Amino acid sequence: MADIPVRESVMTQGAVLFIFGATGDLARRKLFPAIYSLYREGKLAEDFAVIGVARRPRTEEEFRNDLYASIQEFSRYKAENDQEWQVFADHFEYKSLDINNVEGFHELRRQTESIENKFNIQGNRLFYLALAPELFGSVSKSLKEGGMLDGKGWNRLVIEKPFGYDLESAQELNVEIREVFAEEEIYRIDHYLGKEMVQNIEVIRFANAFFEPLWNNKHIANVQITLSETVGVEERGGYYDHSGALRDMGQNHMLQMLTMIAMEPPSRLLPEDIRDEKVKVLRSLRPFESTEDVKTNVVRGQYTEGSYRGQQLPGYREEDKVDPQSNTETYFASRVFVDNFRWAGVPFYIRTGKRLPVKTTEIVVEFKSMPTNVYLGQKHKLEPNLLVIRVNPMEGIYIKINAKKPGSESDIEPLAMDFCQSCMVGINSPEAYERLLMDAIEGDSTYFTRWDEVATAWGFVDRIAKAWQQTPDTLETYAAGSWGPEGAHKLLEQDGFKWWPVSGQDEDNVIWRVGGPQ
Ligand code: BG6
Repeated sequence: MADIPVRESVMTQGAVLFIFGATGDLARRKLFPAIYSLYREGKLAEDFAVIGVARRPRTEEEFRNDLYASIQEFSRYKAENDQEWQVFADHFEYKSLDINNVEGFHELRRQTESIENKFNIQGNRLFYLALAPELFGSVSKSLKEGGMLDGKGWNRLVIEKPFGYDLESAQELNVEIREVFAEEEIYRIDHYLGKEMVQNIEVIRFANAFFEPLWNNKHIANVQITLSETVGVEERGGYYDHSGALRDMGQNHMLQMLTMIAMEPPSRLLPEDIRDEKVKVLRSLRPFESTEDVKTNVVRGQYTEGSYRGQQLPGYREEDKVDPQSNTETYFASRVFVDNFRWAGVPFYIRTGKRLPVKTTEIVVEFKSMPTNVYLGQKHKLEPNLLVIRVNPMEGIYIKINAKKPGSESDIEPLAMDFCQSCMVGINSPEAYERLLMDAIEGDSTYFTRWDEVATAWGFVDRIAKAWQQTPDTLETYAAGSWGPEGAHKLLEQDGFKWWPVSGQDEDNVIWRVGGPQ
């Protein structure tokens, strides 16, 4: 029998977690495994319970079997001990529910009260809506009308992106939710904010004397944020064709990472102070004023047929549930400016795409070059210093500096200091959802997006989307498995820069860098 890890004493507040959409993909792949990991690490108190809610009928037994399968397939920990598994699974119940039927919510309330009694839970309720956003409003309303919010403890609503399709629809959605929940009770998930290395940005920046003083337009030449994926649209063609890369990744994950890189240090380490600083960055983004402006600074592309590691790949328009005439972008890259004193004149280049050669998320900070007319710069071609924050799937930090070539008289060559956190034995970084679920239970909203962040990001992105509507001919193509449309490379060349290579790690932990100058 495998050892059961000793439980730490870090306990969250007791609560009932309601997972709406309990038979869906998000619950299966992310939420159940995250709950199990928290449990195994002793971070969930014994006084917790989960009620899975979905339309489909399921017996308790079927539901727990699904739960077991999801954990064995996707969790960082596997259930190896029968006895422990039974204790854990006993915390789970299921409720089949039509979200517009208030009577069903009254039944849910009775079920909740009984499970609260069973585990001695003091009325704290967390409602996680792993559902299509169109349903957020109705579920919130039914929760209220069904008496689900009348418990003795706190109520919190956790919702997933996409939060609207544009500013207007996001506002409508927000109004519906706010009729029931206060802003402080709403936890909007951007799962990138739960990633270990995204959270590490603050620490790298503000806890190191050799970064913070240089973190400005006097010393930084540009910042590059790449979020590349090898997958196509898989079975999500219906959603994606309506959304596209800009809305799917740009409005949220990419702008959120940009805010973490660009924000000022908060005056206090409190969620609202941190989020205030992030929203200031979003407000400082230079808006695109015209279609011409968008054309100059934003590139969009769609993948066509291609190949990857010898495998033939279909074009986007041939994908399931995608309009064969679709003009939806599967790639976009943009030059963005943060117009404030710290960043005036520094381009931030952001790019994301499906069907690129590597799955990676990386942030490259390129420092300004040393003067070429003084001392070593006169004789040598000195490479710029780089700080690379590797977010995903490899986690780590890479720093490139110039040093004397060993054994040579005076040759200088770039040298890499490479710290790979994910290669270290014994380091098993928590999944983003573990951290975020735990924060929501603890009431820490730091790594959730506040309404003004969401709205400001939409305002910025809407201008791009509108310009694209008027200029369908700006859509470029790129072969699946390639590094994206030509225009994305020209964007940097115009400024005298290049996309730096991105890195990855193979099965033997060998690190490589591809896709541009080394
Ligand atoms: C999601 C997008 O938010 O993020 C997906 O909807 C994308 O299209 C995914 O594949 C990427 O997340 P990660 O954590 O795998 O980089």
